[in-house]
Amino acid sequence: MSLKDRCPIIYFKELGDERGHLVVVEGRQEFPFDINRIFYIYGSDAAVVRGQHANKESEFVLINVSGKSKVRITDGTEKMVVELNQPNMGVYLPKMVWKDMYDFSSDSVLLVLASTHYDAQEYIRDYGEYLNLMKVNHV
Ligand code: TYD
Repeated sequence: MSLKDRCPIIYFKELGDERGHLVVVEGRQEFPFDINRIFYIYGSDAAVVRGQHANKESEFVLINVSGKSKVRITDGTEKMVVELNQPNMGVYLPKMVWKDMYDFSSDSVLLVLASTHYDAQEYIRDYGEYLNLMKVNHV
């Protein structure tokens, strides 16, 4: 399966009316995993690169609920870039993909829904080690 197929963009239904918009994300209801953790990132500017890791166990969905950012994703062989720029869109990241988040707008609030509780041990933060685990030499 291609990287694009493994990291699909998810569009959430907007339940808007004249009062504004409302987006619902319910674990297991049209969502790829049970949500065990949420965190959000804000105050990162255009010069910052975050992420720079892969996860052995965690799956994520990233949503820019305000502003925009970009996510560069690779499996060591293929690469793709997603711009998150609508509060009703997210990108799904399966286990063992390497991701960088960057190009944050000043109003960016990047919401992350995760399948696991935090465990620093399941993070791979060295790209060389990641490529070794993926059994590839370069990208
Ligand atoms: P880090 O993984 O570097 O953030 P990002 O991938 O978004 O750039 O995390 C920053 C710090 O926060 C680091 O010390 C670990 C801590 N942290 C937690 O304690 N729990 C969490 O769920 C997350 C995502 C990070």
